[in-house]
Amino acid sequence: MPDRNKEAKPQAFVQTAKSVMDGLDRWNQVGEDEANAVRDMALRNELSGGTPVVREFEEEWRRRTGLKYAITTFNGTSSLYSAYFGLKVGPGDEVICPTYTWICTISPVPLLGARPVFAECVPGGVTVDPDDVRRRITSRTRAIVVVHLWGWVCDMDAIMDVSKDTGVPVIEDCSHSHGAFYKGRPVGSIGHVGCWSLQGSKPTSAGEGGVIATNDPEVFDRACLIGQVNRIKGMDLVTNHYQHLQPLGTGMKFRAHPLGIGVAAVQLKKLDALNKRRASFVEEVEAGLTGVPALRPIPSAQGSQRGGYYGFPTLYKPAALDGVPRQTVIEAIRSEGVPVNPGGYELLHRLPYFRDGFDLFGHNRGPICKEDKAGFDAPWAGFKEGDFPISEIAHDNFIFLPVLSDPAPEAASKIVAAIKRGVEKAAKM
Ligand SMILES: Cc1ncc(COP(=O)(O)O)c(C=O)c1O
Repeated sequence: MPDRNKEAKPQAFVQTAKSVMDGLDRWNQVGEDEANAVRDMALRNELSGGTPVVREFEEEWRRRTGLKYAITTFNGTSSLYSAYFGLKVGPGDEVICPTYTWICTISPVPLLGARPVFAECVPGGVTVDPDDVRRRITSRTRAIVVVHLWGWVCDMDAIMDVSKDTGVPVIEDCSHSHGAFYKGRPVGSIGHVGCWSLQGSKPTSAGEGGVIATNDPEVFDRACLIGQVNRIKGMDLVTNHYQHLQPLGTGMKFRAHPLGIGVAAVQLKKLDALNKRRASFVEEVEAGLTGVPALRPIPSAQGSQRGGYYGFPTLYKPAALDGVPRQTVIEAIRSEGVPVNPGGYELLHRLPYFRDGFDLFGHNRGPICKEDKAGFDAPWAGFKEGDFPISEIAHDNFIFLPVLSDPAPEAASKIVAAIKRGVEKAAKM
């Protein structure tokens, strides 16, 4: 038997936001206000259910988005699950999703018996290409999910045109883009359903939490049905369709932890100020890099105001540096003290789960199982390199810069100067 005491201690998984550059960023995500809110709620025993703090937070979310219905969930993934269930995604259906996003955007779909259909990003960008979405619509398409990835906003007019022409509803995954706008409208309020993650590193954080919001009463009622067990009685349901199932719904429970929502309620008050600081930092760095052809800014849709800034991607152009590999550039910039990185998200069609398929329900069953048709015309085919060339090329050339949330004076100009020195160094390598 191995001696457990002698084994190395596993590292705790802690994932809350912190200052990315000590000295240049004075930001502290959690402070006295959040701590006091949690203490007060605990002393009031406000620890479970749709408590007053939870209800006020949901009311504030409705106010900010202009949407009629909003409900909190225990994380962003369960808000998306609620949205898919709300839109009646089920066996034999397809959902169109960008190949470039975090897996949780689409992870509920196979569990509901449906298949993801991946789509390309706009060339050199991080948002889905509406033309490619249109090409991938079939009679099975039940929903389109778009993601305002890293806080960069999708072309919602073009996406909603596809939706109007085909009748397929749109989910906006706004997990990265709290407080962003498209043509003056808050993201999440343009499609049929908006979903947000409030996970620990998000701009408005509950530690773990999520929100789903919509104007569609049926979607909302179904979202209550799938996740809000015992919370719905006489309070939340809008239509009469599901009243007979009160108060247990399907018995599934995605309810948010009130203490987390208490933290998020405090954070939400600071979101606009946070976005303002992050925006001015990102814009100053982008402006400072205009004379650096090797690092190009990423487009956000015309008429959009980015928000959240969950990451700061730029596109590396190897041709501008005679083909110097991206990793060399990253290391050269890092040697100048700026913590740049290639980005953490793999394209979904490259993940073994989707690339090779998976026997999700065991016994060779499920919508992404290579042995099962699962109500479709053919078994899951999987993917190979080259299936999404536009996204693959861009993805392999992104370089992520740090996002400062409370930059010290001159921080942006110091960072720009260091990046330029790094790029020059890389050019000589
Ligand atoms: C784009 C996107 N969608 C969905 C999620 C899922 O949110 P959660 O981690 O709160 O479940 C995340 C989380 O990081 C995300 O980045």
